[in-house]
Amino acid sequence: MEPQTDTSTGQVAEPALSDHIAFDHVFSLAGKVALITGGGSGIGFDIARCMVEAGATVIITGRREQPLQDAVETLGERAHYEVNDVTERARLGELVATIEQTHGPIDILVNNAGINMKKPALEVTDEDFDRIVHTNLNSVFSLTRACASRMIERGSGSIIMISSMAAYYGIDRVAAYAASKSGVEGMVKVLASEFSGRGVRVNAIAPGFIETAMSKTAMGGDPDRFARAMRRTPMGKFGKPDDIGWAAVFLASDAARYVTGASLPVDGGNSIGF
Ligand code: NAI
Repeated sequence: MEPQTDTSTGQVAEPALSDHIAFDHVFSLAGKVALITGGGSGIGFDIARCMVEAGATVIITGRREQPLQDAVETLGERAHYEVNDVTERARLGELVATIEQTHGPIDILVNNAGINMKKPALEVTDEDFDRIVHTNLNSVFSLTRACASRMIERGSGSIIMISSMAAYYGIDRVAAYAASKSGVEGMVKVLASEFSGRGVRVNAIAPGFIETAMSKTAMGGDPDRFARAMRRTPMGKFGKPDDIGWAAVFLASDAARYVTGASLPVDGGNSIGF
């Protein structure tokens, strides 16, 4: 029940006791269905693992079948996969319909799939730029629209975007990536303001430097870049993929039922480091 405001005094009434969700349940995703793009490896895999541990049924997607099969085997019986390339935007509606027919309504969408490219801005071609933005931003919008229209009909859902520190401050040589993630940050605010009144929350997680194949490529053979990243990270170390996984469980759960339109840095302090 929504807390009532006394219009004569403007005071919000005490919440009814029934509004309180017990600790045992508040972080639970039992009975929920989560779609996680790019869930076969890296951060997406650990988001899937944490969500399975929290009780959800997860469907991970990716372009190649073998890694998805291996991932699902590790994740256990509540994990399933669909081979899907998020850049094939015309097929995303069909993906959502297939998953909902097989597993039931999607309660949680995690837009995790993403690509990066490190090049000085003057060397970035239009094709390079389009490829990054197409994967990290355009496809995220199309899949979100396909899921959100169904969530809004049902009056509930949680959508999580994976942003980046590249949307927070200027990291050199990632112009297209930063543009795509800044676009995602803007989209979170707009979609949250359009959807939240209809039961669908929209949030972002902004990971700092997390140990995955992507960060290895970005940092590999570039000790200066690594040192700069660590210098401005007060915790002085990279994060682990499941640091993002648990944050995603929180945002998807009832513990975050009043959280929408937020971008949560999970970054060892990198975003506020001097
Ligand atoms: P990763 O390269 O290890 O994993 C990316 C996943 O996305 C892979 O499973 C890949 O197959 C999938 N993918 C890529 N293009 C796809 C497509 N067209 N269709 C379907 N799946 C596709 O990278 P990582 O580090 O796990 O990144 C996951 C997300 O986290 C990305 O959105 C990335 O931008 C973001 N991120 C990562 C950070 C890090 O330090 N690792 C920092 C900030 C953000």
